[in-house]
Amino acid sequence: MSNFKDKNVLIIGGAGMIGSTLARLILKEGAKVTILDAMLPLYGGNMYNLNDIVDDICFVKGDIRDKQCLQSVIHNVDYVFNLAAQVSYVRSNNHPLLDLDINCKGIINILETCRKNVPEAKIIFSSSRFVYGTINYNPVDESHPFNCLSIYGIHKLAGEKYHRFYYDYYGLNTVSIRIANPYGPRQQMAHNEWGIINWFIRLALDSKPLTVFGDGLQRRDYIFVEDIAEALMAVAISSKTSGNVYNVGSGIGTPFIEMTNIIADLIPGTIIEQLEWPKDRYFVETGDYISDINKINKDTGFSSKINILEGIQRTINFYQENRDHYWK
Ligand SMILES: NC(=O)c1ccc[n+]([C@@H]2O[C@H](COP(=O)([O-])OP(=O)(O)OC[C@H]3O[C@@H](n4cnc5c(N)ncnc54)[C@H](O)[C@@H]3O)[C@@H](O)[C@H]2O)c1
Repeated sequence: MSNFKDKNVLIIGGAGMIGSTLARLILKEGAKVTILDAMLPLYGGNMYNLNDIVDDICFVKGDIRDKQCLQSVIHNVDYVFNLAAQVSYVRSNNHPLLDLDINCKGIINILETCRKNVPEAKIIFSSSRFVYGTINYNPVDESHPFNCLSIYGIHKLAGEKYHRFYYDYYGLNTVSIRIANPYGPRQQMAHNEWGIINWFIRLALDSKPLTVFGDGLQRRDYIFVEDIAEALMAVAISSKTSGNVYNVGSGIGTPFIEMTNIIADLIPGTIIEQLEWPKDRYFVETGDYISDINKINKDTGFSSKINILEGIQRTINFYQENRDHYWK
């Protein structure tokens, strides 16, 4: 018997890449799913992400900055997946108050409404590897210092701390995950402010060159979106996770150039060009990042299943079939 059978699940930010993937998996487990999403322009929300499940879910268009909207949606819920965000670190630095509004005030709005309306619900928050910023050692465990290099990273850390505070002070069942470098079907493909694998796939499918700065040897922990959805479900159902924070990654460091070569090999004719690092990009370069995933593995049994070759191939296949809905 699934832990989600007949449970009421709310996915906030559920029209985006990770939320819509989670919705599919959790529906299969027999849950009743509601999705709340603001569908703001340039963000990742896309109704096509829900096209094959739209009759099986309840969709509400609304913003986490709107307390009344949250008040009307957050009722009789067993699991709240808190995925809505301004996701671009570049935009966060250029528009820090916008980022504050969504990634901090919006998060507090959700927690306040949960405290009043669904104090027994499990609340799962999606944070980011960006809280670590400059990396001091690898693999990065959850005790690594916070050397944030962006307003986004600082606000994600605040988001985690809010969740922990509501656990300590109000006894809410909150848990946070720090996601590494996601990629996969259903990510926005309109711009390159996040999700480099997806962006490179778009460039390659458009027969444009892939630009690699420096030697491309910096390692990243790329994780396929379905694995992230599995991790969200694993931390949701485990009784050991409340109050905690977990890294979610593949646990494998792949050199940037190797990831680029995989895309170029799978999309014949792709050209790779290597250039010097531009100064502004070098500043936000964190150094190698590889997640230590021992903690989540120990507490929930989670480990990623999709290797990078399979994940990139599946992502390419998806966009070859659905290009019109993502190329804007
Ligand atoms: N994609 C990444 O690189 C990455 C990396 C680490 C962590 N995360 C986190 O994972 C979560 C999901 O990211 P994703 O990759 O699916 O991004 P996404 O942009 O595809 O999904 C985010 C969704 O949130 C919605 N949203 C944004 N602001 C909102 C608001 N004010 N009210 C209601 N909905 C709003 C968007 O419309 C979008 O559908 C986010 O919290 C993000 O910060 C993402």
